Amino acid sequence: MVKKLFIDDNNMNTTQEQLDLSDLFNHDKDSIDKYKKGINTATENVLSFLHNRTQPFSGVAHEELQKVVDKIDFKEAPTSSHLVFEELQEIYLKHAVAFHLPKYIAHLNCPIVIPSLIGEQILSAINSSLDTWDQSAGGTLIEQKLIDWTGQQIGYPTPDGVFTSGGTQSNLMAILLMRDSFYQKKQQYDVTKFGVNTDKGKLKIFCSECSHFSVKKSAALLGLGEDAVISIPVDDNFKMDCEALESAILKEFIDGNCPIGVVATAGTTDYGSIDPLKSIGVITERYQLWFHVDAAVGGGLLLSNEHKYLLDGIEKSDSTTIDYHKTYFQTVSCSGFIVKEPHNLNLISHHAEYLNPKACKDAGVPNQVDKSLQTTKRFDALKLWLTFRLMGTEKLGSYYDQTLALTKVAADCIQNRKDFELLNPPSLHCLVFRFAPINLNADQLNQLNILIRKKLFSNGQAVVAGTKFKGNNYLKFTILNPTMSKENFEEILSILAMIGEQLLEEEKQFI
Ligand SMILES: Cc1ncc(COP(=O)(O)O)c(C=O)c1O
Repeated sequence: MVKKLFIDDNNMNTTQEQLDLSDLFNHDKDSIDKYKKGINTATENVLSFLHNRTQPFSGVAHEELQKVVDKIDFKEAPTSSHLVFEELQEIYLKHAVAFHLPKYIAHLNCPIVIPSLIGEQILSAINSSLDTWDQSAGGTLIEQKLIDWTGQQIGYPTPDGVFTSGGTQSNLMAILLMRDSFYQKKQQYDVTKFGVNTDKGKLKIFCSECSHFSVKKSAALLGLGEDAVISIPVDDNFKMDCEALESAILKEFIDGNCPIGVVATAGTTDYGSIDPLKSIGVITERYQLWFHVDAAVGGGLLLSNEHKYLLDGIEKSDSTTIDYHKTYFQTVSCSGFIVKEPHNLNLISHHAEYLNPKACKDAGVPNQVDKSLQTTKRFDALKLWLTFRLMGTEKLGSYYDQTLALTKVAADCIQNRKDFELLNPPSLHCLVFRFAPINLNADQLNQLNILIRKKLFSNGQAVVAGTKFKGNNYLKFTILNPTMSKENFEEILSILAMIGEQLLEEEKQFI
């Protein structure tokens, strides 16, 4: 036991009472015992989550949980840790949405593989920070090797990049490099020092109308404004219309603005569609624009021998976003931003004397902070490393391929029913559809589908997503779980239809 230190008036240390430091994680026996016991308790709680869950959501209302949360006071810990975990069950574990169950078919949350969980356990205990060599050592090399692997699969000859917190941060980095390289190359202007300058025209970025909102958000954050993002229409398969893209670029040049880059989406959030990467590569080359591929969703294709060709043309891009926490079965967070030409990352390097002085770089000491928006950074790469080493990329790829095959099965299930309409052809993992049983008008159909989803969520039997297309409301399946089956899809559709039929009976507005 350590003595608690008090400083007296003469700055002399005096000891007055015992200080219990056994909650600190270290090699002391008390600490190790507490750690082991704590990990056992954590495991038991996780196992009870797995065992007690038969449906993906409890259906609890947020108002109900809010009342319980409001009563918690943090000052003193309860006398027994048992009480704390009971409380956690009540507030969280009983209700947390269970992504591993096959009736969770809503958003881009994949079930996770056990090697990723093992990695999570190790990385949080060792707690390396992946900014500098002196805070990570071998961890930096692990991250760099995985970035290199990803870049090689994309087809970049000498890639570089960093792990990030998610697709949003990776896309922000892409727009940042797009902006800064434009100013540097085309206007010999130091935007880092002087800020955005529109004297020679407003900067413009192009992406499809189905691209992720983080593109607009990044433009706003980087001082370009959301209006800098020009939405290009999509074709019937929800892919960017390249003729419209080229016309839009030309129009901006004619209007005296400055097109700086195109963001293609490889796997749109709602439809899974992949923009025509080869054609976009030709256009960006013609007009010397930065070409970024947001493959947050479609990045899993790099694992698939059978389907990798769907990304043909990605190798022409300057940068790519990949979310390992979407299609590589990794725990949140685990994402990558990869560039074709490493020197572009210098645009965001900042050398701080206390952390990464230029001398370290000159001496060839590896680090990731020179390329990163984050300083202190989780060692998420360890999870992917252990996944690749314990499973191998072939096996991981077979899990991914299974989800693609299942999406086609689910599409058939929807199309085989007369009471549902499928909006998009199956592409990657996403199916957008609606319950449309009888001759209802557009407003009634919209109301009905909104209510079906709401009702389903409040009973929790299954969780499906929703989205809008041309002002109409749809339901959405995102299929990322290789344990799903045809029976599973049929059952979910029957539940949706049953809720829909009940609503039609109960609600006068549909008559
Ligand atoms: C196409 C696409 N890009 C980027 C993102 C953002 O990723 P994250 O949620 O990891 O920030 C998403 C999220 O769904 C996405 O679908």
